[in-house]
Amino acid sequence: MATSGPDVARDASGQQDLRELLNFDQRREFTRFLMSYKFGIDEMMTKINILKDEFTYIHDYSPIEHVKSRLKSADSVLGKAARKGLPFTLDAIRENIHDIAGIRITCSFIQDAYRISDMLTGQLDITVVAVKDYIAEPKANGYRSLHLIVEVPVFMSDRVESVRVEIQIRTVAMDFWASLEHKIFYKYDKVVPEALLGELRDAADVARHLDVKMEALHEEVRGSGTTLRV
Ligand code: GTP
Ligand code: MG
Repeated sequence: MATSGPDVARDASGQQDLRELLNFDQRREFTRFLMSYKFGIDEMMTKINILKDEFTYIHDYSPIEHVKSRLKSADSVLGKAARKGLPFTLDAIRENIHDIAGIRITCSFIQDAYRISDMLTGQLDITVVAVKDYIAEPKANGYRSLHLIVEVPVFMSDRVESVRVEIQIRTVAMDFWASLEHKIFYKYDKVVPEALLGELRDAADVARHLDVKMEALHEEVRGSGTTLRV
């Protein structure tokens, strides 16, 4: 693929399929490239499910509440490449777009987020590319989550691909806040009124207090020797 980004950005109107701008061979190559990210998600989901089941068996509770995954569509990958002014090459896309494969893990308690992160990043075949700890250092709008970019090997028929996967780990309270903030952000077309931004920051504080409180309660009950299955 050697098409350049800006041409596609100019042509990208409405629902147009940006892949129309690629020739047949480029399209096949691009689809194969995206497939490797789907396999990266599959590999990571297997790891996450193993951790979940085994941890639950040993400790009698699951640190993982829900797991969701999504693969960026071809159009949205090409659209992002165009917005970032990247050349339309697989190498440039691989190096610069880290959220083609995305996994979101929701857990009960803040400590669980770090525990899950340690269990995943400690695995020998996983390479950590980047960590953004928005739990320790929330974004100015109040957003909290632990973000990892990891590389996982995927064994294909004729080669091994290292595939990058974005993993977001957050508590139920952080997730509740983030999904509402996301809806508000898009409802106001990314220009949210200042008063609402203030309310969202307040709500983020409340969510943080709830996380701290719930964790303390959980510890208290565990400390008393009572098994709490939450
Ligand atoms: P891009 O997603 O490529 O723009 O990367 P980035 O450098 O902004 O990465 P970052 O790790 O900050 O964010 C990655 C993802 O986290 C986003 O695509 C969202 O899914 C989520 N995220 C980050 N910030 C916010 C936020 O303020 N609110 C919400 N709801 N989600 C956020
Ligand atoms: Mg993103």
